[in-house]
Amino acid sequence: MSMTIDIITVVPELLEGPFSHSILKRARNKGLLSVKTHNLRKWAINKHAQVDDYPYGGGAGMVLMCEPLANAIEELQQEKKFDEIIYMTPDGHRFDQQTANQLSLKGNLLIICGHYKGIDERIRQRFVTMEISIGDYVLSGGELAAAVVVDTIGRLIPGVLSDETSALFDSFQDNLLAPPVYTRPASFRGDSVPEILLQGDPKKVEEWRYEQSLERTRTRRPDLLRGE
Ligand code: ADE
Repeated sequence: MSMTIDIITVVPELLEGPFSHSILKRARNKGLLSVKTHNLRKWAINKHAQVDDYPYGGGAGMVLMCEPLANAIEELQQEKKFDEIIYMTPDGHRFDQQTANQLSLKGNLLIICGHYKGIDERIRQRFVTMEISIGDYVLSGGELAAAVVVDTIGRLIPGVLSDETSALFDSFQDNLLAPPVYTRPASFRGDSVPEILLQGDPKKVEEWRYEQSLERTRTRRPDLLRGE
């Protein structure tokens, strides 16, 4: 199964780098993921490339207009049916690993990045099926948030990680933080690697890692253990 992600943005340059390296690059090269950015100005309402306007009622900032967004979405819908049309916004549903897992099983996603003060409310109501925030802070636009979401989803697509089970042990997959990891040398400036990892008994290693995960979660993120 492969996934396509289309992204509508006024700053496509911001999305050139994040998907062209490392794991996401491999996913695209293997044909498991296709990411395409679309410059909203292609659907601008006039020759000044206008896509935004002042907010009715006054106030600071500009709002992305209905027409360019509606035309962009509808043109892209001619090519494929989207499983979700996602708007990146600080007032959306807070992104987490569970949402990422669910989205990684979808076929076609369309992501809309807001800029300035956001997009006209009528576009949200008419087209958007899901609204995602990556955290309680305000970015200057949705592009970096979209990059976070695409990266998180991309590595979960079956076949992308070389060892398919490796995402199973990520932080948050069981509402637990990941255990500490070590590599060579066994002793660095007098600090040694825990003995159990050097002994090579897989069952003991697994138990140790679970204990460490629990302990880390207890001390750093007790909210996860309470299921909050
Ligand atoms: N756009 C601006 N801030 C954002 C956030 N925190 N999450 C998603 N999209 C955003």
